[in-house]
Amino acid sequence: MTTCVTSSAVGVSLLLLLSVTCQTGFACSEVGLPLAESNRTRQLPVVLWHGMGDSCCNTHSIGAVRNRIHHLLGGVFVHSIATGEGGPADSESSIFGNVNAQVEDVCKTLASFPELKDGYNAVGFSQGGQFMRAVVERCQHTGPKVHTLVTLGGQHQGVMNVPKCWNPSFNVTPSYMCSLSQRFLGWGANLPLIRTHLVQAQYFKEPRNLASYRAHNIFLADINNDRDTKNPLYKDNLSTLEKFVMFRFEHDTTVVPRDSAWFAWYNGTQLLTMNQTDLYQEDWIGMRALHEAGKLEFRGCPGDHMHFNLEWFEDNIVEPYLRAPAVTNLPRS
Ligand SMILES: *[C@@H]1O[C@H](CO)[C@@H](O)[C@H](O)[C@H]1NC(C)=O
Ligand SMILES: *[C@@H]1O[C@H](CO)[C@@H](O)[C@H](O)[C@H]1NC(C)=O
Ligand SMILES: *[C@@H]1O[C@H](CO)[C@@H](O)[C@H](O)[C@H]1NC(C)=O
Ligand SMILES: *[C@@H]1O[C@H](CO)[C@@H](O)[C@H](O)[C@H]1NC(C)=O
Repeated sequence: MTTCVTSSAVGVSLLLLLSVTCQTGFACSEVGLPLAESNRTRQLPVVLWHGMGDSCCNTHSIGAVRNRIHHLLGGVFVHSIATGEGGPADSESSIFGNVNAQVEDVCKTLASFPELKDGYNAVGFSQGGQFMRAVVERCQHTGPKVHTLVTLGGQHQGVMNVPKCWNPSFNVTPSYMCSLSQRFLGWGANLPLIRTHLVQAQYFKEPRNLASYRAHNIFLADINNDRDTKNPLYKDNLSTLEKFVMFRFEHDTTVVPRDSAWFAWYNGTQLLTMNQTDLYQEDWIGMRALHEAGKLEFRGCPGDHMHFNLEWFEDNIVEPYLRAPAVTNLPRS
């Protein structure tokens, strides 16, 4: 619980935000599971977007998840998004880069796969959660279409501090250093080079610096329609989802505030649940439409940020959300 800002350089401080979050806690056992009895004609392919510091195909994290889904769902097509070529570049691009450009590239890549032409289900890991949501908001109309979107420990309302710092989701008093780092980062994240080159600055939202966030944030303020001028197409597109499932890690000390995973936001004095925010009440992006249509699900995962194993993933994500519903009215031979 000691990782607060210790450096005076903004870039370095923001990097601290990252260093702690790079570890994912997968227990990777690739066992030869029997192929699932699935209706291949209806089983949708799956697209994954990894989190910060990870890469598409790391066999100790997303690569293992990809293989598991592929086996469980009868050899279904699973694409794990890479935003850089090769592991190290992919991993680096989750820290240094422009998320808007990455989302645009991803949309083009996904559209180029014939396997995805009838649509797909998507899982976004950590920051990959809000990035995948951006794909829906910006590219659902050009396709391929996302049917179910699952996000795990996403930062839908951004982050306001470095990991392990004071988290309004838990009842503890902020330390002096954490208050200081929050102010400092809120200012630093909107500086010209940082806001366009550091991925995490592009979803940094500090409640006391909202004017600056609205004016300068290049990504989150846009996809959340946080500016005065709203883009109505985002709502049209997001509300076409058949299901949007948000997982929150119950003891998440990395995402500050933890409840950003459920679209909650700390406004400087209190943590507002999704339905208390203007984003929801005025339905800036379609979250209310999804909720009222019964298409929104709030789920929890015990443990800290991204601490889950493949068995948990299988039981809680693959089976309920990725596997096509069984066709029961067909005779089995
Ligand atoms: C899969 O589902 C489709 C649509 O309901 C059906 O036409 C097809 O026969 C099913 N195939 C199998 C192998 O069950
Ligand atoms: C989605 O957004 C695009 C533009 O980004 C727009 O052309 C389209 O009509 C929107 N709505 C749907 C339902 O796709
Ligand atoms: C935060 O939200 C609560 C409830 O809507 C409100 O009473 C309070 O004034 C807000 N705080 C700030 C700083 O806007
Ligand atoms: C808002 O959401 C909370 C849980 O997040 C729920 O307890 C409450 O009933 C909701 N309020 C409304 C008005 O929907």
